[in-house]
Amino acid sequence: MQDLIERAARDLAGTRRAVALTGAGISIESGIPPFRGPGGLWEKIDPMEVAHIDAFRRDPRKVWDLLIKGMQTVLAAAVPNPAHRGLATLERLGRLQAVITQNVDGLHQQAGSQDVIEFHGTFAWQRCMTCERRCRSDELDLTEIPPRCECGGIFRPDCVFFGELIPPEHLVRAQQLAAECRVMLVVGTSATVHPAAMLPHLARGAGARVIEINPEPTPLTGTVSDYLIPGPAGPVVDALADAVAALQADSGGQA
Ligand code: APR
Repeated sequence: MQDLIERAARDLAGTRRAVALTGAGISIESGIPPFRGPGGLWEKIDPMEVAHIDAFRRDPRKVWDLLIKGMQTVLAAAVPNPAHRGLATLERLGRLQAVITQNVDGLHQQAGSQDVIEFHGTFAWQRCMTCERRCRSDELDLTEIPPRCECGGIFRPDCVFFGELIPPEHLVRAQQLAAECRVMLVVGTSATVHPAAMLPHLARGAGARVIEINPEPTPLTGTVSDYLIPGPAGPVVDALADAVAALQADSGGQA
C-alpha cells in the first residue's frame, strides 16, 4: 500500500488543482456509522421511511424520533480524525482546492478545511419548513418533538433529504471543480448516490486522475478510478499528506 500512497503523493504534488469527494467512510473512524455496509444505518432502518422528504412531510415526529435525534447525539460526540486533518493539511499545502463532502457532520471544517462544499447540507443547522428561519441545532428546544419555530412551523435539519434537489449553487460549483481538477481524491464513499456519484465520472471524462481511498472496491474501481488505495481513510490520508509535504519540501515548495 505504501507504494500506492507514494504514487498518489506524486500525483498530488504535481498539481495545485486537486479536489476531494468524501463520504460517510471518512467519518467512521470518528465514531459515526456509515449508511451502507456492515453496521450501516440503512441496514437498521429503511431510508425511504425516515430520510425521504415525503416521509418527513407525512410524519415529522417519526423522522425526528427514528433518525434525527439519534444522529444529532452521535454527531455532537464526534471529533475529526487524521483523514479530516490530512485533507486540511493538503489544502494548506496549496494542493487541494476544495472538499466536496456528502457528509452532514461538519468535521472537515472542524479539522481546518476552509473550502468545503456541503453537498448534502448540514445537521449543524435547522430550518423552519414554513418561514425558512434558521437556527443552530445545539440551540434547539427539543422538549416538544418535532421542534417548532416561533411562527408555528416545524424545524427540519438543513440537509438534503432523499427526493430533494442539491442546492443549485453547490451542484454548479461541485461540477465545475470536478470538470476542472487534475486530480480527484474519492475518500470513503460507496459512490452509489447521485448526483454526487457522477462527479468522479465528470473528473475522469475531463482528463483528471481519480484516486480512491476505501477499504473496499466501489462501482468506480477499475472503471472510473485510476487506482484504489485499499485502506482506512485515517492512516492513508495522514500518510498521504505527510508524503506530499515531504515532496514539496524536497522541491523547495515548487509546484
Ligand atoms: N475509511 C474509508 N472508507 C471506509 C472506511 C474507512 N475506515 N470504512 C468503510 N468505508 C467505506 C465503505 O467501504 C463504503 O464504500 O465507506 C463507504 C461508505 O458508504 P456509504 O455508507 O454508502 O456512504 P456514502 O457514500 O457517503 O453515502 C452517500 O447516501 O444515504 C445517503 O445521504 C446519504 O450522503 C449519504 C449518501
